[in-house]
Amino acid sequence: MKIITKFTTSVREVGFGNTLAKIPNRLVSRSMRLNIDRQFDRKYGVDTSGIIYPSRLDISDTQKKTAKEYEPTPVIAVQHILKSLLIDHSQYTFVDFGSGKGRVLLLASEYPYSNVIGVELSPALHHTAEINIKIWQRLGRIKCRTVQSIRMDATEFKLPQEPLVLFFFTPFEVPIANRVVRNISADFEKNPRPIRIVYYGGRPEFLNVLAQTKFSRKEIYSHRPLAAIRHYRGYVFSSETA
Ligand SMILES: C[S@@+](CC[C@H](N)C(=O)[O-])C[C@H]1O[C@@H](n2cnc3c(N)ncnc32)[C@H](O)[C@@H]1O
Repeated sequence: MKIITKFTTSVREVGFGNTLAKIPNRLVSRSMRLNIDRQFDRKYGVDTSGIIYPSRLDISDTQKKTAKEYEPTPVIAVQHILKSLLIDHSQYTFVDFGSGKGRVLLLASEYPYSNVIGVELSPALHHTAEINIKIWQRLGRIKCRTVQSIRMDATEFKLPQEPLVLFFFTPFEVPIANRVVRNISADFEKNPRPIRIVYYGGRPEFLNVLAQTKFSRKEIYSHRPLAAIRHYRGYVFSSETA
């Protein structure tokens, strides 16, 4: 009874989301977290949830070997990361490498970025992202200038020549990550400009690839319960010391 009273008082005082965020991670099961995450889809009538393994994606057998599964970044994690960047968003273009159904694009589009771009290999996921973007537009939630999902292999994507926020939630295996990061480094050498690379996930080998940029690294996300499966973290690599 005491716990229920505490819970309802907290909901009244700081809101439901903030109350849940205070519950220690170990007390919250993965399915409960996934269920909380699905509330986002239900609330806005979009489709961004679920885990889809590469074997079920409409990509070639070769691509299935290097692609990671579709899994959306938890809403609370994206919101926290975007808030922690402390940049003038309007000066930047935001790119999500491996954008899937576009959840990160939707949440980034609520900031006044100059452009928000998703690069996704799977035609089906790209198609769902396009529908989600249209719904987001209808709901009047878009604050950035443009938002789009592009169906393309991330290794072929040419970076826009302006300040950038580049988002990665472990989209692919290390060999592909190496090629993408080599492209970023070469591009930055030709045109040095503010670049923030965000990594969300739990793969040290992916972080090691991003470290090849020689950008300064900072952990931006660590102990927020409910954000995701426990071992996931967030980091930002900055081209200049912030
Ligand atoms: C872990 S999900 C992340 C989804 C989204 N970024 C988010 O955080 O909600 C990884 C996505 O990367 C995509 N992907 C895998 N290999 C890719 C490649 N070579 N180029 C573009 N996208 C790729 C997958 O299809 C999948 O949708």
